[in-house]
Amino acid sequence: MRRVLALLFLGLVTAHAATRPPTLGARLALDGLGSIHACADCHGSQGQGRPHFAYPKLAGLGFSYLFGALRSFADGRRLNGIMTPIARGLTLKEMRAVATYYASSRPRPPHPVRRGDRFRLARGRRYYEHGDMGDRLIGCARCHGRRGRGMGMRFPWIAGQTEAYVKEQLRSFRAGARRGPGLGLMRDAARPLDAHQIDDIALYVSVLGARPPLSIPANNAVMPPIVPRRTFVPPRRDAIPHTAFGAAVRRGRAIFDHTDRYAHPYIGNALSCSDCHMGEGREAEAGPMWAAVALFPRSYRGRITTLAARVQAAFVQSENGRAPPLDGPVLTDLLAYVHWMSRGEVIGAHAPGRGYPPVTEPKSGADAARGAGLYVQRCAVCHGDRGEGSRYNDRFVFPPVWGPLSFGRRASLAQTSVLAAFLKSTMPYTDPGTLTSGAAYDLAAFLEARPRPP
Ligand code: HEC
Ligand code: HEC
Ligand code: HEC
Ligand code: HEC
Repeated sequence: MRRVLALLFLGLVTAHAATRPPTLGARLALDGLGSIHACADCHGSQGQGRPHFAYPKLAGLGFSYLFGALRSFADGRRLNGIMTPIARGLTLKEMRAVATYYASSRPRPPHPVRRGDRFRLARGRRYYEHGDMGDRLIGCARCHGRRGRGMGMRFPWIAGQTEAYVKEQLRSFRAGARRGPGLGLMRDAARPLDAHQIDDIALYVSVLGARPPLSIPANNAVMPPIVPRRTFVPPRRDAIPHTAFGAAVRRGRAIFDHTDRYAHPYIGNALSCSDCHMGEGREAEAGPMWAAVALFPRSYRGRITTLAARVQAAFVQSENGRAPPLDGPVLTDLLAYVHWMSRGEVIGAHAPGRGYPPVTEPKSGADAARGAGLYVQRCAVCHGDRGEGSRYNDRFVFPPVWGPLSFGRRASLAQTSVLAAFLKSTMPYTDPGTLTSGAAYDLAAFLEARPRPP
């Protein structure tokens, strides 16, 4: 009886579906309209794309992104021999309809990988997740998420996107040919990439999310060095030993990189050590920790100070918190990390690359109003119009630069000259070294005048 009912019900449902007229979006996608080809010919009926052509997956991209992409093809911000004429043939209503249609399809997991690609994949993953600080390559994961599912309306889902398409887009962003609603973020992110990196990253992105999950070697022997020569080069990250000391080093690195998560009781803002000491404290001229190991104990705010006491001071001043105890796990692990990365550095030497290279103040002085204008142009896209930073899943992707969760007035960074030096050498994140000394001072004056903790 139950089966008969179920069959009857199924019959009703299919009959209903068959009689309901397809929506405008479905008609456009599946049959086309007038001279416009069916989108499905190239993108598939479920938006699955064509793996061997540069025909992208549309599933997973979401309504606003799809609609925005069609509009940019139509108004010329994004030019493509195939899509530009198609988009120009659509009315806004049709764009909305077909974007709605594809926004409802979920992406399928991509095919698993050929075995021989494991090294390329390992490299691709490394760039994807961590970038490469020496080359100023920002990890893709920072904006697209570790699993490539994008975030919010601005950062598209790229996991499982077709390899050929990803390659083509990275080249076109790098060349500045694809502009669009993304405000140049991708152009900056793609600029440092060379052809090999593009190949490796595109391969990795195309299989991101595959089932069964990939088994990729976590690290590899083929990474280029990450710090400019002439300055000290810390040991590679995969050289951390598998010993009790190594375990402390790994914990210390985690604290340095995610201070809010692993040293929560001792901090009063949202900043991690690595937000100001770039590249996990490894990068020359960006507050490297190996230089501190070489030079401490030394005079600091009028007293000869040990490195441990200097790290305690960082918690009080830069983290707006309180000092972790000298013999406790937080300080011990942090010191293990910075000592490990300094192996081979000459103790007591001059340590070229230390701190942030000083910047001379322009004769005309700093102008906070000019700084405000520069901030809107060059910084707000990541740090927010109100300096609040950007969060994803409750974690900061871009840290706040003023307000209650930023650094306080006691921090070293709150001194104009130090802040100007920091900005000139590290910001904008994807394009550092492009601020003039004057601009760095103007921005520093602007940031200093913003509200922040005492
Ligand atoms: C003849 C093949 C073809 C047809 C038909 C086609 N497209 Fe495309 N589509 C492409 C190609 C190729 C690209 C990549 C363009 C580029 O490189 O910028 C693309 C890109 C797109 C993008 C941008 C995707 C992204 O990830 O940024 C959207 C959205 C899109 N198409 C929607 C549509 C819709 C809607 C239709 C039907 C009205 C359609 N396309 C019909 C080939 C096609
Ligand atoms: C600073 C943030 C940021 C970083 C880092 C970043 N992206 Fe993007 N990405 C974006 C934004 C924003 C867009 C949307 C651009 C647009 O709509 O014009 C985008 C778009 C893309 C697209 C086009 C998606 C599509 O469907 O057409 C691809 C592919 C892509 N990114 C890959 C990467 C890869 C690979 C990396 C790492 C090398 C990377 N991105 C790093 C912000 C970023
Ligand atoms: C808001 C930015 C900021 C944060 C967050 C921050 N620091 Fe610093 N730190 C600085 C600045 C600026 C200096 C001064 C560099 C100089 O004087 O050239 C500095 C100096 C140091 C020094 C001395 C370096 C030297 O070469 O003399 C150590 C050690 C240090 N910080 C450790 C840490 C640790 C550990 C954390 C996390 C618990 C941390 N810092 C968090 C900005 C920051
Ligand atoms: C592409 C995104 C991006 C842009 C654009 C950018 N930053 Fe940053 N900024 C970052 C990231 C990411 C960090 C943290 C570094 C890390 O985690 O490795 C940071 C850190 C900072 C910090 C130290 C930490 C804090 O929150 O106080 C300051 C100050 C700062 N940026 C100011 C600026 C200024 C001023 C500009 C404009 C000239 C700018 N940034 C442009 C991404 C960006």
